[in-house]
Amino acid sequence: MKIGIIGTGAIGGTIAKKMASAGHTVKINNSGDLDKLNALAEELGVIAADQKEVVKDVDVIILSVPTIAIPTLPNDLFAEVPENVIVVDTSNYYPFRDADIEEIKNGKVESVWVSEQLGRPVIKAFNNLLAETLASGGKNPDAEDRIAMAVAGDDAAAKKIVAGLVNDAGYDVVDSGSLSESWRHQPGTPAYCTELDTEELKQALADGVKEEAPVKRDKAIKELSAMTSYPSHADVVKFNRALFSKNPKSEKI
Ligand SMILES: NC(=O)c1ccc[n+]([C@@H]2O[C@H](COP(=O)([O-])OP(=O)(O)OC[C@H]3O[C@@H](n4cnc5c(N)ncnc54)[C@H](OP(=O)(O)O)[C@@H]3O)[C@@H](O)[C@H]2O)c1
Repeated sequence: MKIGIIGTGAIGGTIAKKMASAGHTVKINNSGDLDKLNALAEELGVIAADQKEVVKDVDVIILSVPTIAIPTLPNDLFAEVPENVIVVDTSNYYPFRDADIEEIKNGKVESVWVSEQLGRPVIKAFNNLLAETLASGGKNPDAEDRIAMAVAGDDAAAKKIVAGLVNDAGYDVVDSGSLSESWRHQPGTPAYCTELDTEELKQALADGVKEEAPVKRDKAIKELSAMTSYPSHADVVKFNRALFSKNPKSEKI
């Protein structure tokens, strides 16, 4: 497939590398200058593109920027992008980073807000695994303990295509329902960054409590920031699991 990725940080850069390794044609764009973008593209084995080019002649566009950057994207970004091009949103809202977005704070589902900002339907994917999990936790489809990723959206055919990309990245897929249900894998839920297999993730998605999620999210950030030494990746996953006693992989910490 032909994939355009905006945002080349921990998530977008990793997706770019994985999609290129899987044989897809990948273009990337970020907020930096073109020289640096060219160097990064070479390192990742992909093509550097400006904002107009990155969305041109592609099958899928992946937005992997902080939520606060979504409204800064050009108003006409999708003006010439055909309707059948799939837009994927990887974002997670964190008030400490993304400032106050009142509608989200008042309960609007994050990717529903993103979709409204863009004026395009989006599929939410690649948001419920930590960057390090995404970079190094992928496995072959027949691996017994393969980690699963949630994919939400309102277009079943688009979700199927995105599920194929997630599989190429090394993860099983759980269809988490419509975009309005995607709060079930936002920060502060049992499905968020807890490295579960398919059956466990289905359970975790069902166990989420919408009103509790922002409270748990902010508590988690506060506690992680207060740690005297930088927690390892394994510690963060363990910490996330322990926020929910019902989490199938929860253990006391
Ligand atoms: N990190 C994780 O563990 C994780 C896990 C799942 C989902 N997510 C979510 O995925 C999104 C990306 O996360 P990340 O960790 O990859 O962030 P990151 O490392 O901070 O990278 C953000 C990227 O967005 C680019 N960017 C920002 N504003 C832009 C604009 N207006 N136009 C084009 N590019 C722009 C940045 O460009 P420059 O490179 O030029 O600065 C950078 O490449 C966030 O919403 C995050 O919450 C993160």
